[in-house]
Amino acid sequence: MGSRYSILLEKIWNELSPKIQRLKLERYMKDVYSQTWITNRHENYGFSAYDKAICNYIEYNFQSNDLARRSKLLDVAVGTGYPIAEYFVKSGFTVHGIDIAPNLINYCERNYPEINTTIGNVNNMDYPNNMFDLTYCFHSTWYFPSLLNVIKEMLRVTALNGKVIFDIQNRNNKIHSDITLKLQDPFVRRWLKNLKNMILKDGPVIWKRVIHQTPTYPETIYKFLMSHGCDDFFVMTWDEQQYLVKTTERLPYHEYARLVFVVSV
Ligand SMILES: C[S@@+](CC[C@H](N)C(=O)[O-])C[C@H]1O[C@@H](n2cnc3c(N)ncnc32)[C@H](O)[C@@H]1O
Repeated sequence: MGSRYSILLEKIWNELSPKIQRLKLERYMKDVYSQTWITNRHENYGFSAYDKAICNYIEYNFQSNDLARRSKLLDVAVGTGYPIAEYFVKSGFTVHGIDIAPNLINYCERNYPEINTTIGNVNNMDYPNNMFDLTYCFHSTWYFPSLLNVIKEMLRVTALNGKVIFDIQNRNNKIHSDITLKLQDPFVRRWLKNLKNMILKDGPVIWKRVIHQTPTYPETIYKFLMSHGCDDFFVMTWDEQQYLVKTTERLPYHEYARLVFVVSV
């Protein structure tokens, strides 16, 4: 009897745990992370060389297309709109942006009224099929509880012959590898810090913590795209000259911490 109960409890836990984690993460992004993101993005990161490389690459490739100025772009997890969505709006594209954090979307609306904004979860976007010519997502995929589902959504809302472009933190690179992640495990670090704070009375003891960044194995994306009929894609990295370039290395791309997937729909 006891073991039947424990099997049942385990089943319920296995079923609920990912959902609880997902809800916790989404709440964290909405209520906690977003509070510091405006300052971080604008004052610490700014319009970085990587952002410029992204904007130049996309603009250059879409400009060669006659439809360029009429193209509809979707910025997935747009944040404040600065600097990427802002760049495209100023270049004459029609830009839509979606983000889970109301305060970021409010900021975006106040500062860039030309961007068509939506408060929403990228896991389940309220846009019709085939609405956009280009759907992109930068600096954000590692915050999504179910990245593959978000890629599916990005493919769904993108029109035939359109493109889906997103970056990932590469879990095969040593900065984001399992071993590094284990050493940096926020629970372990938090636990040690709390212990120190308790013993030395050195600061507040805070137990609540959410793991909010999850790097991805590029091979997972490969498999997913292939199994969804998308075999026309390539991977880019950012070189020393600060351009986005196609990778010469093949999977598993140990060398690169950040990878950009470019998918033709
Ligand atoms: C690091 S910020 C990047 C924002 C923007 N792409 C940029 O480059 O400045 C990550 C963004 O992802 C958003 N986000 C995280 N999870 C989300 C979700 N499930 N649905 C929609 N937005 C989400 C956050 O609110 C935040 O604006």
